[in-house]
Amino acid sequence: MEDKFEALIEGLLEHQFGLANAFISPELTAALRQQLVYLYESGAMKPAGIGQHFTYAKNLKIRGDMIYWLEKENSAAEKAFLEQIEAFIDYLNRTCYAGINAFEFHFARYETGSFYKRHLDQFKSDQGRKFSLVTYLNEDWSASDSGQLLLFSGEKPVEIYPTGGSAVFFKSDEVEHEVKPAIRPRLSIAGWLKRI
Ligand code: OGA
Ligand code: MN
Repeated sequence: MEDKFEALIEGLLEHQFGLANAFISPELTAALRQQLVYLYESGAMKPAGIGQHFTYAKNLKIRGDMIYWLEKENSAAEKAFLEQIEAFIDYLNRTCYAGINAFEFHFARYETGSFYKRHLDQFKSDQGRKFSLVTYLNEDWSASDSGQLLLFSGEKPVEIYPTGGSAVFFKSDEVEHEVKPAIRPRLSIAGWLKRI
């Protein structure tokens, strides 16, 4: 477990983002994907918002994902995932004195062709979000499916494909990023480690 945590933290310290190829196990990836599909099919997932000043039509020009917030009580898979997040936060606080004391994570489904334009994850009105952590739930993703996450951390953007089980970690107020459209639905859990 600590190896994955180290990979995320070392990458962030060295070049502004960390990547862990097997952040969650194949079994947990499958269970979370199944839960996301169940939520989607039962109509529980809702279009993500951007801010109170935006209408739904304006939102769609910026981001097209449907989301649902995770709760430990909702399924064994969500409980296992959030417990792993708590272990990561403990590690981060112990090794980097990060002072994280809250977190929030949502499932996300990007329909074929939908995207999230270049943005930062920290809102001006809410500086609680310190670190972003996105975990992918897709089965057999290949480069021809598109749907890359672009990270604008260096001279040219880094492209990350949303391979099931992998996770990417970066500072919410520093790294601008963008989700490119894919040719199939794109499934993930996006979340934030907070200091409030
Ligand atoms: C987000 C986000 C990235 C991704 O939800 O804020 O940028 O790869 N997600 O899904
Ligand atoms: Mn984002």
